[in-house]
Amino acid sequence: MLPPSLAWIADRLDALERSHLRRDVVARDGAPLTELRRNNRSYANFASNDYLGLAADPRLQAAAGAAIEQYGWGAGASPLIVGYTGLQAQLEQSLAQFEGTEAALVFGSGYAANVGTITALVDREDAIFSDELNHASIVDGCRLSRAAVHVYSHGDVATLAELLKHVPARRRLIVTDSLFSMHGDMAPLADLAELAEQHQAMLMVDEAHATGIFGPAGRGLCEAVGVEDVVAIRLGTLSKALGCSGGFVAGSRELIDWLVNRARTYIFSTALPPTNAAAAMAALKIVQEEPWRREKLLQTAQTLANELRGHGWNLGESASQILPLVVGASERALQLAAWLKELGFWIPAIRPPSVRPGEACLRISLSANHAPETIALLRDTLVRVHDRRE
Ligand SMILES: Cc1ncc(COP(=O)(O)O)c(C=O)c1O
Repeated sequence: MLPPSLAWIADRLDALERSHLRRDVVARDGAPLTELRRNNRSYANFASNDYLGLAADPRLQAAAGAAIEQYGWGAGASPLIVGYTGLQAQLEQSLAQFEGTEAALVFGSGYAANVGTITALVDREDAIFSDELNHASIVDGCRLSRAAVHVYSHGDVATLAELLKHVPARRRLIVTDSLFSMHGDMAPLADLAELAEQHQAMLMVDEAHATGIFGPAGRGLCEAVGVEDVVAIRLGTLSKALGCSGGFVAGSRELIDWLVNRARTYIFSTALPPTNAAAAMAALKIVQEEPWRREKLLQTAQTLANELRGHGWNLGESASQILPLVVGASERALQLAAWLKELGFWIPAIRPPSVRPGEACLRISLSANHAPETIALLRDTLVRVHDRRE
Protein backbone atom coordinates (compact mmCIF):
# COMPACT_ATOMS: atom_id res chain seq x y z
CA MET A 1 0.00 0.00 0.00
CA LEU A 2 1.28 3.44 -0.89
CA PRO A 3 1.36 5.87 2.05
CA PRO A 4 -0.61 9.12 1.29
CA SER A 5 2.63 11.06 0.80
CA LEU A 6 3.48 8.79 -2.16
CA ALA A 7 -0.02 8.66 -3.68
CA TRP A 8 1.19 10.78 -6.61
CA ILE A 9 3.26 7.83 -7.82
CA ALA A 10 0.17 5.77 -8.64
CA ASP A 11 -1.21 8.66 -10.72
CA ARG A 12 2.06 9.05 -12.59
CA LEU A 13 2.29 5.33 -13.31
CA ASP A 14 -1.26 5.40 -14.69
CA ALA A 15 -0.31 8.30 -16.93
CA LEU A 16 2.71 6.36 -18.25
CA GLU A 17 0.49 3.36 -18.91
CA ARG A 18 -2.05 5.46 -20.82
CA SER A 19 0.65 6.96 -23.04
CA HIS A 20 2.25 3.54 -23.74
CA LEU A 21 5.44 4.60 -21.96
CA ARG A 22 5.31 2.41 -18.86
CA ARG A 23 8.21 -0.03 -18.54
CA ASP A 24 8.41 -3.24 -16.54
CA VAL A 25 11.20 -5.72 -16.00
CA VAL A 26 10.67 -9.35 -16.98
CA ALA A 27 13.07 -12.04 -15.77
CA ARG A 28 14.68 -14.29 -18.34
CA ASP A 29 16.06 -17.77 -17.77
CA GLY A 30 19.58 -18.84 -18.62
CA ALA A 31 22.46 -17.04 -20.28
CA PRO A 32 22.07 -14.09 -22.67
CA LEU A 33 22.62 -16.36 -25.64
CA THR A 34 21.11 -15.92 -29.05
CA GLU A 35 18.20 -18.00 -27.83
CA LEU A 36 16.32 -16.55 -24.90
CA ARG A 37 14.02 -18.47 -22.53
CA ARG A 38 11.22 -16.72 -20.72
CA ASN A 39 8.27 -18.38 -19.00
CA ASN A 40 9.06 -21.72 -20.63
CA ARG A 41 9.06 -20.27 -24.14
CA SER A 42 12.05 -19.79 -26.31
CA TYR A 43 12.72 -16.75 -28.52
CA ALA A 44 15.42 -15.73 -30.98
CA ASN A 45 17.18 -13.03 -28.96
CA PHE A 46 17.80 -9.80 -30.86
CA ALA A 47 17.85 -7.62 -27.76
CA SER A 48 21.21 -8.08 -26.10
CA ASN A 49 24.44 -6.07 -26.31
CA ASP A 50 26.45 -9.29 -26.30
CA TYR A 51 27.58 -8.41 -29.83
CA LEU A 52 30.48 -10.85 -30.05
CA GLY A 53 28.71 -13.68 -28.22
CA LEU A 54 31.16 -13.64 -25.30
CA ALA A 55 28.81 -13.24 -22.30
CA ALA A 56 28.45 -17.01 -21.91
CA ASP A 57 31.79 -18.02 -23.41
CA PRO A 58 33.39 -20.86 -21.40
CA ARG A 59 36.77 -19.09 -21.48
CA LEU A 60 35.32 -16.14 -19.56
CA GLN A 61 33.68 -18.53 -17.10
CA ALA A 62 36.95 -20.39 -16.59
CA ALA A 63 38.82 -17.12 -15.95
CA ALA A 64 36.16 -15.97 -13.48
CA GLY A 65 36.17 -19.41 -11.79
CA ALA A 66 39.93 -19.32 -11.27
CA ALA A 67 39.66 -15.79 -9.88
CA ILE A 68 36.97 -16.83 -7.38
CA GLU A 69 39.30 -19.52 -6.06
CA GLN A 70 41.97 -16.95 -5.38
CA TYR A 71 40.08 -13.75 -4.55
CA GLY A 72 36.55 -14.78 -3.54
CA TRP A 73 33.51 -13.15 -5.10
CA GLY A 74 33.08 -9.53 -4.02
CA ALA A 75 35.63 -6.71 -4.17
CA GLY A 76 34.93 -5.89 -0.53
CA ALA A 77 35.57 -2.14 -0.69
CA SER A 78 36.12 0.82 -2.99
CA PRO A 79 39.39 0.79 -4.95
CA LEU A 80 41.17 3.38 -2.81
CA ILE A 81 40.39 1.47 0.38
CA VAL A 82 41.11 -2.26 -0.19
CA GLY A 83 38.92 -3.18 -3.19
CA TYR A 84 41.74 -2.98 -5.73
CA THR A 85 43.56 -6.27 -6.43
CA GLY A 86 46.24 -7.40 -8.83
CA LEU A 87 43.51 -8.51 -11.23
CA GLN A 88 42.04 -5.03 -11.67
CA ALA A 89 45.59 -3.72 -12.09
CA GLN A 90 46.29 -6.32 -14.79
CA LEU A 91 43.02 -5.51 -16.53
CA GLU A 92 43.91 -1.82 -16.59
CA GLN A 93 47.32 -2.65 -18.06
CA SER A 94 45.71 -4.89 -20.70
CA LEU A 95 43.21 -2.17 -21.59
CA ALA A 96 45.94 0.47 -21.89
CA GLN A 97 47.95 -1.87 -24.09
CA PHE A 98 44.91 -2.65 -26.24
CA GLU A 99 43.99 1.03 -26.56
CA GLY A 100 47.58 2.13 -27.12
CA THR A 101 47.45 4.62 -24.25
CA GLU A 102 49.71 5.21 -21.27
CA ALA A 103 47.09 4.11 -18.78
CA ALA A 104 43.49 3.07 -18.19
CA LEU A 105 41.09 3.14 -15.25
CA VAL A 106 38.28 0.67 -14.60
CA PHE A 107 34.94 1.75 -13.09
CA GLY A 108 32.06 -0.37 -11.76
CA SER A 109 29.96 0.41 -14.86
CA GLY A 110 30.04 2.42 -18.07
CA TYR A 111 27.44 4.68 -16.48
CA ALA A 112 29.77 5.38 -13.55
CA ALA A 113 32.70 5.95 -15.92
CA ASN A 114 30.82 8.67 -17.82
CA VAL A 115 29.42 10.42 -14.77
CA GLY A 116 32.71 10.25 -12.85
CA THR A 117 34.88 11.38 -15.74
CA ILE A 118 32.78 14.33 -16.86
CA THR A 119 32.35 15.65 -13.34
CA ALA A 120 36.11 15.34 -12.74
CA LEU A 121 36.96 17.32 -15.87
CA VAL A 122 34.66 20.33 -15.70
CA ASP A 123 33.04 22.54 -13.10
CA ARG A 124 31.07 25.79 -12.71
CA GLU A 125 33.51 27.92 -14.70
CA ASP A 126 33.54 25.53 -17.66
CA ALA A 127 31.40 24.62 -20.69
CA ILE A 128 30.33 21.29 -22.16
CA PHE A 129 29.20 20.71 -25.76
CA SER A 130 27.09 17.57 -25.96
CA ASP A 131 25.25 15.85 -28.84
CA GLU A 132 21.50 15.79 -28.22
CA LEU A 133 21.38 11.99 -28.57
CA ASN A 134 24.22 11.22 -26.16
CA HIS A 135 23.61 8.40 -23.71
CA ALA A 136 21.82 9.17 -20.44
CA SER A 137 25.03 8.60 -18.47
CA ILE A 138 26.70 11.44 -20.40
CA VAL A 139 23.64 13.62 -19.88
CA ASP A 140 23.69 12.92 -16.15
CA GLY A 141 27.43 13.60 -15.95
CA CYS A 142 26.86 16.94 -17.68
CA ARG A 143 24.07 17.87 -15.29
CA LEU A 144 26.01 16.90 -12.19
CA SER A 145 29.16 18.73 -13.28
CA ARG A 146 27.56 22.20 -12.82
CA ALA A 147 29.24 23.37 -16.03
CA ALA A 148 27.21 25.27 -18.64
CA VAL A 149 25.84 22.59 -20.97
CA HIS A 150 25.34 23.41 -24.66
CA VAL A 151 23.41 20.66 -26.42
CA TYR A 152 23.85 20.67 -30.19
CA SER A 153 21.49 18.93 -32.65
CA HIS A 154 22.48 15.39 -33.49
CA GLY A 155 25.76 15.41 -35.43
CA ASP A 156 25.40 19.13 -36.22
CA VAL A 157 29.03 20.13 -36.64
CA ALA A 158 28.21 23.60 -38.03
CA THR A 159 26.27 24.59 -34.90
CA LEU A 160 29.00 23.17 -32.71
CA ALA A 161 31.60 25.23 -34.58
CA GLU A 162 29.57 28.40 -33.95
CA LEU A 163 29.17 27.56 -30.27
CA LEU A 164 32.89 26.95 -29.89
CA LYS A 165 33.60 30.30 -31.51
CA HIS A 166 31.30 32.23 -29.22
CA VAL A 167 31.06 30.48 -25.85
CA PRO A 168 33.82 31.60 -23.50
CA ALA A 169 34.81 29.34 -20.63
CA ARG A 170 37.82 28.40 -18.56
CA ARG A 171 37.82 24.83 -19.95
CA ARG A 172 35.72 23.39 -22.75
CA LEU A 173 34.71 19.77 -23.21
CA ILE A 174 33.16 18.24 -26.34
CA VAL A 175 31.54 14.91 -25.49
CA THR A 176 29.86 12.38 -27.74
CA ASP A 177 28.92 8.73 -28.17
CA SER A 178 30.90 7.31 -31.09
CA LEU A 179 28.16 4.85 -32.03
CA PHE A 180 24.72 5.97 -30.92
CA SER A 181 23.09 3.20 -28.97
CA MET A 182 19.49 3.63 -30.08
CA HIS A 183 20.05 4.66 -33.70
CA GLY A 184 23.15 2.65 -34.61
CA ASP A 185 24.63 5.67 -36.43
CA MET A 186 28.01 7.31 -35.95
CA ALA A 187 29.25 10.66 -34.67
CA PRO A 188 31.19 12.83 -37.16
CA LEU A 189 34.42 12.03 -35.32
CA ALA A 190 36.83 13.48 -37.91
CA ASP A 191 35.01 16.85 -37.81
CA LEU A 192 34.79 16.81 -34.02
CA ALA A 193 38.52 16.08 -33.77
CA GLU A 194 39.29 18.98 -36.09
CA LEU A 195 37.09 21.37 -34.10
CA ALA A 196 38.60 20.22 -30.81
CA GLU A 197 42.10 20.92 -32.10
CA GLN A 198 41.15 24.22 -33.64
CA HIS A 199 39.50 25.48 -30.44
CA GLN A 200 41.76 23.69 -27.97
CA ALA A 201 38.79 21.92 -26.44
CA MET A 202 38.98 18.59 -24.61
CA LEU A 203 37.39 15.80 -26.63
CA MET A 204 35.80 12.83 -24.88
CA VAL A 205 34.37 9.93 -26.90
CA ASP A 206 32.22 7.15 -25.47
CA GLU A 207 32.91 3.97 -27.47
CA ALA A 208 30.50 1.83 -25.41
CA HIS A 209 28.92 0.12 -28.44
CA ALA A 210 31.97 0.30 -30.72
CA THR A 211 34.70 -1.21 -28.51
CA GLY A 212 35.51 -4.68 -29.85
CA ILE A 213 33.56 -4.08 -33.06
CA PHE A 214 35.06 -1.30 -35.19
CA GLY A 215 38.60 -0.55 -36.33
CA PRO A 216 41.25 -2.97 -37.64
CA ALA A 217 42.23 -3.94 -34.08
CA GLY A 218 38.71 -3.65 -32.67
CA ARG A 219 39.39 -0.54 -30.59
CA GLY A 220 36.36 1.30 -31.87
CA LEU A 221 35.40 4.13 -34.17
CA CYS A 222 38.21 6.48 -33.11
CA GLU A 223 40.59 3.85 -34.44
CA ALA A 224 38.50 3.26 -37.57
CA VAL A 225 38.41 6.99 -38.35
CA GLY A 226 42.04 7.60 -37.36
CA VAL A 227 41.48 10.20 -34.63
CA GLU A 228 42.77 8.36 -31.57
CA ASP A 229 45.61 10.85 -31.08
CA VAL A 230 43.21 13.78 -30.82
CA VAL A 231 40.66 12.05 -28.59
CA ALA A 232 42.45 12.50 -25.29
CA ILE A 233 39.63 10.93 -23.24
CA ARG A 234 38.41 7.59 -24.59
CA LEU A 235 35.74 5.71 -22.73
CA GLY A 236 34.58 2.14 -23.24
CA THR A 237 32.50 -0.48 -21.50
CA LEU A 238 33.24 -4.05 -20.53
CA SER A 239 29.49 -4.67 -20.58
CA LYS A 240 28.63 -4.87 -24.27
CA ALA A 241 30.93 -6.59 -26.79
CA LEU A 242 33.21 -7.79 -23.98
CA GLY A 243 30.31 -9.65 -22.37
CA CYS A 244 31.11 -8.61 -18.77
CA SER A 245 30.27 -5.62 -16.59
CA GLY A 246 32.10 -2.35 -15.96
CA GLY A 247 33.44 0.68 -17.78
CA PHE A 248 36.87 2.15 -18.44
CA VAL A 249 38.68 5.28 -19.47
CA ALA A 250 41.90 5.11 -21.50
CA GLY A 251 44.29 8.04 -21.83
CA SER A 252 47.45 9.65 -20.52
CA ARG A 253 48.95 8.76 -17.14
CA GLU A 254 48.09 12.19 -15.74
CA LEU A 255 44.46 11.95 -16.87
CA ILE A 256 44.10 8.61 -15.11
CA ASP A 257 45.84 9.90 -11.97
CA TRP A 258 43.46 12.87 -11.94
CA LEU A 259 40.43 10.56 -12.21
CA VAL A 260 41.74 8.41 -9.35
CA ASN A 261 41.80 11.59 -7.28
CA ARG A 262 38.64 13.29 -8.48
CA ALA A 263 36.14 10.87 -10.11
CA ARG A 264 33.55 10.47 -7.38
CA THR A 265 31.94 7.37 -8.92
CA TYR A 266 35.36 5.71 -8.73
CA ILE A 267 36.29 6.91 -5.28
CA PHE A 268 32.97 6.40 -3.49
CA SER A 269 31.79 3.12 -5.00
CA THR A 270 32.79 -0.52 -4.50
CA ALA A 271 35.46 -1.67 -6.95
CA LEU A 272 34.70 -3.94 -9.89
CA PRO A 273 34.82 -7.52 -8.53
CA PRO A 274 38.16 -9.22 -9.31
CA THR A 275 36.22 -12.10 -10.94
CA ASN A 276 34.77 -9.62 -13.42
CA ALA A 277 38.24 -8.22 -14.12
CA ALA A 278 39.53 -11.73 -14.87
CA ALA A 279 36.63 -12.44 -17.24
CA ALA A 280 37.12 -9.09 -18.98
CA MET A 281 40.79 -9.89 -19.60
CA ALA A 282 39.79 -13.19 -21.17
CA ALA A 283 37.28 -11.32 -23.37
CA LEU A 284 39.88 -8.76 -24.42
CA LYS A 285 42.19 -11.58 -25.50
CA ILE A 286 39.40 -13.11 -27.61
CA VAL A 287 38.71 -9.72 -29.25
CA GLN A 288 42.38 -9.54 -30.24
CA GLU A 289 42.74 -13.17 -31.34
CA GLU A 290 39.41 -13.69 -33.09
CA PRO A 291 38.77 -10.74 -35.42
CA TRP A 292 36.41 -12.99 -37.40
CA ARG A 293 33.75 -12.26 -34.78
CA ARG A 294 33.55 -8.53 -35.51
CA GLU A 295 34.01 -9.06 -39.25
CA LYS A 296 31.13 -11.56 -39.39
CA LEU A 297 28.94 -9.33 -37.21
CA LEU A 298 29.38 -6.25 -39.40
CA GLN A 299 28.98 -8.22 -42.62
CA THR A 300 25.72 -9.78 -41.36
CA ALA A 301 24.47 -6.37 -40.21
CA GLN A 302 25.18 -4.74 -43.55
CA THR A 303 23.47 -7.49 -45.55
CA LEU A 304 20.39 -7.53 -43.29
CA ALA A 305 20.14 -3.72 -43.28
CA ASN A 306 20.27 -3.62 -47.10
CA GLU A 307 17.58 -6.26 -47.37
CA LEU A 308 15.25 -4.61 -44.86
CA ARG A 309 15.69 -1.18 -46.44
CA GLY A 310 15.00 -2.78 -49.82
CA HIS A 311 11.68 -4.01 -48.44
CA GLY A 312 10.61 -0.62 -47.18
CA TRP A 313 11.74 -0.56 -43.54
CA ASN A 314 13.15 2.73 -42.27
CA LEU A 315 16.48 2.09 -40.53
CA GLY A 316 17.47 5.74 -40.27
CA GLU A 317 21.22 6.29 -40.60
CA SER A 318 22.23 3.01 -38.98
CA ALA A 319 25.59 1.68 -40.20
CA SER A 320 26.37 -0.87 -37.51
CA GLN A 321 25.25 -3.97 -35.64
CA ILE A 322 22.39 -1.92 -34.12
CA LEU A 323 19.47 -1.84 -36.55
CA PRO A 324 16.52 0.32 -35.49
CA LEU A 325 13.26 -0.19 -37.36
CA VAL A 326 11.77 3.26 -36.94
CA VAL A 327 7.98 3.16 -36.75
CA GLY A 328 7.12 6.50 -35.07
CA ALA A 329 4.41 5.99 -32.45
CA SER A 330 5.15 4.17 -29.20
CA GLU A 331 1.88 2.25 -29.47
CA ARG A 332 2.86 0.95 -32.90
CA ALA A 333 6.30 -0.11 -31.65
CA LEU A 334 4.74 -2.00 -28.73
CA GLN A 335 2.22 -3.65 -31.04
CA LEU A 336 4.91 -4.82 -33.44
CA ALA A 337 7.16 -6.04 -30.62
CA ALA A 338 4.26 -8.07 -29.21
CA TRP A 339 3.47 -9.45 -32.63
CA LEU A 340 7.08 -10.47 -33.24
CA LYS A 341 7.19 -12.04 -29.80
CA GLU A 342 4.24 -14.21 -30.79
CA LEU A 343 6.30 -15.28 -33.78
CA GLY A 344 9.28 -16.15 -31.56
CA PHE A 345 11.51 -13.04 -31.87
CA TRP A 346 12.54 -10.97 -28.87
CA ILE A 347 13.08 -7.45 -30.21
CA PRO A 348 12.48 -4.56 -27.79
CA ALA A 349 10.28 -1.56 -28.53
CA ILE A 350 12.37 1.54 -27.79
CA ARG A 351 10.27 4.54 -26.80
CA PRO A 352 10.81 8.04 -25.44
CA PRO A 353 12.75 9.09 -23.43
CA SER A 354 15.28 6.63 -24.91
CA VAL A 355 14.48 8.16 -28.33
CA ARG A 356 12.91 11.47 -29.36
CA PRO A 357 9.09 11.65 -29.31
CA GLY A 358 7.65 10.28 -32.55
CA GLU A 359 10.76 8.17 -33.24
CA ALA A 360 9.85 4.95 -31.45
CA CYS A 361 11.51 1.93 -32.99
CA LEU A 362 12.12 -1.76 -32.71
CA ARG A 363 15.81 -2.15 -32.03
CA ILE A 364 17.52 -5.20 -33.45
CA SER A 365 20.90 -5.94 -31.87
CA LEU A 366 22.90 -8.54 -33.73
CA SER A 367 25.44 -10.98 -32.34
CA ALA A 368 28.28 -12.79 -34.09
CA ASN A 369 26.72 -15.94 -32.63
CA HIS A 370 23.40 -15.62 -34.47
CA ALA A 371 23.01 -18.56 -36.85
CA PRO A 372 22.53 -17.59 -40.53
CA GLU A 373 19.20 -19.47 -40.52
CA THR A 374 17.93 -17.37 -37.60
CA ILE A 375 18.89 -14.17 -39.43
CA ALA A 376 17.17 -15.42 -42.59
CA LEU A 377 14.03 -16.25 -40.62
CA LEU A 378 14.05 -12.80 -39.04
CA ARG A 379 14.43 -11.14 -42.44
CA ASP A 380 11.57 -13.17 -43.97
CA THR A 381 9.33 -12.48 -40.97
CA LEU A 382 10.04 -8.73 -41.05
CA VAL A 383 9.36 -8.58 -44.77
CA ARG A 384 6.00 -10.29 -44.18
CA VAL A 385 5.19 -8.04 -41.21
CA HIS A 386 6.01 -4.92 -43.24
CA ASP A 387 3.91 -6.05 -46.21
CA ARG A 388 0.97 -6.78 -43.90
CA ARG A 389 1.10 -3.20 -42.61
CA GLU A 390 0.82 -1.58 -45.99
C1 LIG B 1 26.70 4.97 -25.07
C2 LIG B 1 26.64 4.32 -23.73
N1 LIG B 1 27.48 4.73 -22.77
C3 LIG B 1 27.46 4.17 -21.54
C4 LIG B 1 26.57 3.17 -21.23
C5 LIG B 1 26.55 2.63 -19.85
O1 LIG B 1 27.28 1.44 -19.79
P1 LIG B 1 26.99 0.37 -18.67
O2 LIG B 1 25.84 -0.45 -19.13
O3 LIG B 1 28.26 -0.41 -18.60
O4 LIG B 1 26.70 1.09 -17.41
C6 LIG B 1 25.69 2.70 -22.19
C7 LIG B 1 24.76 1.62 -21.84
O5 LIG B 1 23.82 1.30 -22.48
C8 LIG B 1 25.71 3.30 -23.47
O6 LIG B 1 24.86 2.90 -24.42
